[in-house]
Amino acid sequence: MKKSLILLAACLIGGAAFAQQTNPLLQHETEITEIIKTMTLEEKVNMLHGKNMFSSAGIERLGIADMEYADGPFGIREEMEPHSWMPLGWETDRATFFPTGSALAATWSPEIAYEYGKGMAIEAKLRGKDMILGPAMNIQRLPTGGRTYEYLSEDPILSGELAVGYTLGSQDQNEAVCLKHFAVNSQENMRGFVNVNISERALREIYLTPFEMAVKKANAMGVMAAYNKVWGTWCSENFTLQETILRNEWGFKGMIISDWGGTHSTVGAVTGGLEVEMPGNTYMGQALIDSVKTGAVPMNVIDARVRNILRVRLAITPVPKDVANTKVTSQPETQAIAYKVASKSIVLLKNEGVLPLASKAKTIAVIGDNATRTMGLGGVGAGVKTLYEVTPLEGLQKALKGKAKIRYARGYEPAPRAGWGQQLPENAMEEYAKRMATLKKEALKAVKGADLVIFVGGNNREVETEGSDRTSIQLPFQQEELMKAIAEVNPNIVAVMVAGAPVDLREVNKIAKGLVYSWFNGTEGGNALADVLTGKIAPSGKLPFTLPVKLDDSPAYALGVYPQQEQGGGDVFVNLVNRDRFAVRKADADYSEGIFVGYRWYTTKNVKPMYPFGYGLSYVDFKYTNLAAKVEGETIEVTFDLANQGQMEADEVTQVYIARPDSKVERPKYELKGFKRVAVKGGETTKVTISIPKDNLRHWNEFQHAWNVENGKAVIYVGGSSDNLPLQTEITL
Ligand code: GLC
Repeated sequence: MKKSLILLAACLIGGAAFAQQTNPLLQHETEITEIIKTMTLEEKVNMLHGKNMFSSAGIERLGIADMEYADGPFGIREEMEPHSWMPLGWETDRATFFPTGSALAATWSPEIAYEYGKGMAIEAKLRGKDMILGPAMNIQRLPTGGRTYEYLSEDPILSGELAVGYTLGSQDQNEAVCLKHFAVNSQENMRGFVNVNISERALREIYLTPFEMAVKKANAMGVMAAYNKVWGTWCSENFTLQETILRNEWGFKGMIISDWGGTHSTVGAVTGGLEVEMPGNTYMGQALIDSVKTGAVPMNVIDARVRNILRVRLAITPVPKDVANTKVTSQPETQAIAYKVASKSIVLLKNEGVLPLASKAKTIAVIGDNATRTMGLGGVGAGVKTLYEVTPLEGLQKALKGKAKIRYARGYEPAPRAGWGQQLPENAMEEYAKRMATLKKEALKAVKGADLVIFVGGNNREVETEGSDRTSIQLPFQQEELMKAIAEVNPNIVAVMVAGAPVDLREVNKIAKGLVYSWFNGTEGGNALADVLTGKIAPSGKLPFTLPVKLDDSPAYALGVYPQQEQGGGDVFVNLVNRDRFAVRKADADYSEGIFVGYRWYTTKNVKPMYPFGYGLSYVDFKYTNLAAKVEGETIEVTFDLANQGQMEADEVTQVYIARPDSKVERPKYELKGFKRVAVKGGETTKVTISIPKDNLRHWNEFQHAWNVENGKAVIYVGGSSDNLPLQTEITL
């Protein structure tokens, strides 16, 4: 692993050139040329579409194996029937549920992301898979985005460095990744047809940069074309995105697969850069053979598609069929990685002397459906059938055994939901109201006389899910009302938000004395939460996105450009399943906020958030001193001292934001340009160096259609949160 971390460090500093020299995709070019010479048209086209639901064909005559894909960016999905979405119901495919994307991002650690990718790859190999359909890394444009929890961050540099780590970690285990979804798949509503209208500058600086980083710095082997359109053209046939930018400009040498049901033509897709139609062969099967025979598609285009697939196929050693699935997928080694990620992801937002849990707290009431709800399954393609999952209550019970008495009451339960195309029974809501009244009464009884209340609420994997965006960020299932009632009986409340995306914390923040975001935090999430709450470890997560006071403060809502109006409706999956995929639907998503996504909006527009990007408290105080910055060649070296003024060892995520006050173009107040997670022992001081490639300060010049790095003043801010930057200096480029 040391070699790879050196590579990771080199890539993070040295960038693209270093990575290209070692690109495993370019080690078989001569052999591939010879293979293609012997192939028939049918054999070639046979590789360009789905074979099974999660595989595409190799070349049986030559003993070249099929490509086996594995869903889930945060856990290897259970085995499905070859030609349907039905699980096979095995037991060996029980996997580790890794913390979801925003939780990984809350660690702000490319090194942890590397471990994460390694863990995912180890489990994918045990399942005989060649390519993980992840990382899911679209920019979190909407607090309500159905997959905001799956994605990483609202910031391109943070998202990009984590995707680089994940990619290197996975591909160092000889497991391909598939960066998804390329590109600008920022919403789930109308995802199957929404057309994104976006400035070139916003596209480049914000939405494409994470993908560019993972291609250039980590030689990502796969990319998944997104369902949506950009500038009027389907992503899966968008020549500008797939050929001009991804391949010709960034040097991508791997293969592009469509999202499932996201292919929309034969000639357009194959000449637009798509290698594999998934699933099925509507467009890139016989229709493609016919198109070649009629001359509509030149053979050299087919050969280029086959070459890109064979580059990945020959770089990834297939797992023998008699080896795959002979061990249970989830292993102690990967479970330990899940714990490490979870333990570094938890964000402490507020602490009025209640955390860590005091030893005098002898009776603790744990309230909330999310204290016992497992979060592995759900979210369509991102569901994980786990070997086990430690819930918050189980984690607390284990950690506090013999130290405190725990009372549990559910307090609330999710509202009944009708299945696809079904109706709720007539009296369902009436019955629900009765159950909720009973649950509330039980909760109020449980908190009475307790030394402390730990309220575990938030969302769940039905509330935040692929296929639909939330319509608000309100806490669901009357949680606020319940918390208010609890506070009247017992004001000593620690609130734990189990969620993957922002929720409205206005009431919670008033009521709770302690407030923690603990994410959909994986198989070991309950243990990690207990270790933080009991003070075994200090919390060290930082918000990877802004928590707005209210939804309308967020840019797309403030500008009224989301939600959009649609003609027709229904999710791409529903249409696929209902064979209704040819219904014409249109909707335009105008990204009017441009580059002002997330904290770029709030800081520049002076809109105060509930909690800002990069924010997170510890159990110790950190002091920043002695900032110095200088330009050394192509990097900006930023150094400063960091003192841990507390007793216990703790990690701090140090952050560097840069402003360009003399810029000739419109810019945010400042932008994240570097960061580093640092462990410091109690009472000690450490010198921190953050090397920032000058290229990180680039902006897209929309007249030249090219990157520029402006000369002139650069003001450098350093601190532990985007709203707390105690050190400042400036340099001149
Ligand atoms: C889904 C998702 C994608 C997933 C694929 C296969 O629609 O958009 O992320 O990998 O289909 O399940």
